[in-house]
Amino acid sequence: MNCLTRSSSSQYDAGRHSGQHRPVLLDAAIDALRIRSDGVYVDGTFGRGGHAAAILKRLGAEGRLWLIDKDPAAISQARREFGGDSRCLIHYGSFAELGGLADAQGVRGRIAGILLDLGASSPQLDEAQRGFSFLREGPLDMRMNPAKGISAAAWLASAPLSKIERVIKHYGEERYARRVARAIVASRQAGRLPQTTCALAALICAAVPRREAGKHPATRTFQAIRIVINDELEELRGLLAAICDLLCAGGRLVVISFHSLEDRLVKRFMRDHTRVGDLPLGVPIVAESMRPRLRLPAKPLRASVDEIRSNPRSRSALLRVAERLP
Ligand SMILES: C[S@@+](CC[C@H](N)C(=O)[O-])C[C@H]1O[C@@H](n2cnc3c(N)ncnc32)[C@H](O)[C@@H]1O
Repeated sequence: MNCLTRSSSSQYDAGRHSGQHRPVLLDAAIDALRIRSDGVYVDGTFGRGGHAAAILKRLGAEGRLWLIDKDPAAISQARREFGGDSRCLIHYGSFAELGGLADAQGVRGRIAGILLDLGASSPQLDEAQRGFSFLREGPLDMRMNPAKGISAAAWLASAPLSKIERVIKHYGEERYARRVARAIVASRQAGRLPQTTCALAALICAAVPRREAGKHPATRTFQAIRIVINDELEELRGLLAAICDLLCAGGRLVVISFHSLEDRLVKRFMRDHTRVGDLPLGVPIVAESMRPRLRLPAKPLRASVDEIRSNPRSRSALLRVAERLP
């Protein structure tokens, strides 16, 4: 059942396409990885495997590709499609676990490319039962991995008002965070806390006094709740902290992000590692530790007008690439 059909932006353009996931910035991402046929690569966000299939086309028999996703439906698809390909290693879990996986396989410092196509996939957004979309009536869940953590409904039922407000303000960048948080807590105290996506969307619509042009009023709050439920920024931070030790010299990190919070993390990480920080006064320094560890081989890239026309989900996508220096 559809709740509302107002236009919206970001990944919540879900209403405009079917459950089929169409990879965003496919050619640009594959070019940016500069794939060597015998390299070890990681697709940290397998989804439905659009990028992974393109990487595999360029890998020879000696190449290896890690397929990682924390969504069991994505992993089932990976097993069905690539389980018989001896070049593939499939991991059901978070890309934040890559450091441990790399150590177990003895490839720390030997990975030639890591791709992250962040956020939710079209099937996650489009399947009402997953509870991600305010456009489709479903249980308020929003977990990418339904076997881990708590659902959005359980979180809203137990989080203190101040935390709900903080999350909506910081992760949703919602100027009416206080009003939305108060409306949620008031409904909870009255024993009418929304249990479905459309009920929560209706509550948010009633709490937000002014509408942004072209954006559904629930967009920001749904994004915020999804981020906290899936620990999205912390997991990204965790992986970024390990990246320089995981990549080989010349190895590349390619990240496609869909909102400013994740892009800001990636941008700052890349910027901080492409330059040498201020020298600490009076502290002896090992020259090695003062070298930049990354370079930026290309400018950030957005989808073309044609791609946006044929796949509206690509509208907010931004691709960044960094290369490990020797
Ligand atoms: C935008 S989709 C990727 C689509 C994919 N590139 C394709 O072509 O089909 C993002 C996927 O990343 C997964 N994901 C998000 N955060 C993750 C994390 N921290 N660890 C593992 N998978 C994650 C989601 O479950 C989702 O399937």
